[in-house]
Amino acid sequence: MLSLRKEILHLQENKMEIGIIGAGTMGSGIAQVAAQNGHQVILVDSMENALSKSKSELQFSLKRLEEKGRITEQQSSEIQNNIIYSTEITSLRNSKLVIEAIIEKLEVKHQLLYELESVVSDNCIIASNTSSIPIASLGSILSNSKRIIGIHFFNPAPVMPLVEIIPSVQTSSVVLEKSIQILKDWGKVVVVCKDTPGFIVNRVARPFYGEALRIYEEGKADFSTIDWAITEFGGFKMGPFTLMDYIGNDINYSVTESIFEAFYFDPRFKPSFTQRRHVEAGFYGRKSGRGYYDYSEGAIEVFPSKDEVLGKAIFERILVMLINEAIDAVFMQVATPEDIDLAMTKGVNYPKGLLKWADEMGLEKILNKLDELFHEYGEDRYRPNPLLRKMVREKRSFF
Ligand SMILES: NC(=O)c1ccc[n+]([C@@H]2O[C@H](COP(=O)([O-])OP(=O)(O)OC[C@H]3O[C@@H](n4cnc5c(N)ncnc54)[C@H](O)[C@@H]3O)[C@@H](O)[C@H]2O)c1
Repeated sequence: MLSLRKEILHLQENKMEIGIIGAGTMGSGIAQVAAQNGHQVILVDSMENALSKSKSELQFSLKRLEEKGRITEQQSSEIQNNIIYSTEITSLRNSKLVIEAIIEKLEVKHQLLYELESVVSDNCIIASNTSSIPIASLGSILSNSKRIIGIHFFNPAPVMPLVEIIPSVQTSSVVLEKSIQILKDWGKVVVVCKDTPGFIVNRVARPFYGEALRIYEEGKADFSTIDWAITEFGGFKMGPFTLMDYIGNDINYSVTESIFEAFYFDPRFKPSFTQRRHVEAGFYGRKSGRGYYDYSEGAIEVFPSKDEVLGKAIFERILVMLINEAIDAVFMQVATPEDIDLAMTKGVNYPKGLLKWADEMGLEKILNKLDELFHEYGEDRYRPNPLLRKMVREKRSFF
């Protein structure tokens, strides 16, 4: 039981005003989450039309929730009334937590954070929803950089349970604890990770795309056969090519490229020519009508080869590469094994945590498969992680 004082503080915390900057895809979703949790939300965007679009899209999605019986009419209007739309950053003067979700450009974010710090109170937490910019470099523009933190939501924010919380080298422990508490109060699944490229999900998930593309490039199988192998034998909801077409090849390629650069060009993260050519051709995926698959009217349907031996080999190769990456995140202390598994199941809907999967498969089998790939190709991308080798030697498991 909470003491009365704590209970009051808790209530006050729940009612504190939250500022969100950027009324695009992510900012609008985060504003909805905070508003649904009873906060007064100030949603700021420099573009008037971004605000009106955000407002009407929220109206539309709440209407649908009402029709499905998930919320009442009163709840819907309360959520809408909780959000104030503004083009002025000065409207955020009373916010106790501000999450920025503007475009992914360091100079633009720096300019914004610099202005923001002169508006908000000394105890306001300043958070960024960035996917790829180091939190430490965002914090460097603040005179009190102890208040910077990464709070990374997944799209769509009101639906995806996972939030990665990223303290930087400057972040104070109070800011970290308070941020975790707020996000937990909002019903989110919170994982804490180091300020390293791609955080957990965007780092560990790289081989899902990269190894699938590599298998295709080697001529081992076509897109639909690789997708089939992953859904059939791995139980994933979508295969890598279907998923890349959903995300957009332009976006997926640029994330891969930025992670490759951020890891000082480690060959594990090398982008693929096939994906690059698709981007150059304008084959972005569903949104452009053509990606790895053709989404136009009357397009010829493609079918996988459904060769079981081939399918299992494809799935196993991609899975061991994913597991090796998850193990590297443990090895480099990016996050705990529990949080890494939570991140992949709650952030990108993997059917099972990769480290749990590793335990079930047997670490020795995974090591042997990686050693086999490493010897066959002689490429660094297949090097087994030292922690995996050590754990096999010591006959240990993750859980
Ligand atoms: N889209 C995703 O799936 C996703 C997922 C997780 C994190 N992110 C991160 O979230 C952030 C936002 O991404 P998004 O996809 O919502 O972008 P978006 O392009 O949909 O929206 C960005 C909004 O910011 C506004 N904006 C730009 N500069 C501004 C400024 N100086 N002041 C106020 N408003 C400004 C724009 O008008 C626009 O409405 C990025 O940092 C991105 O890396 C995106």
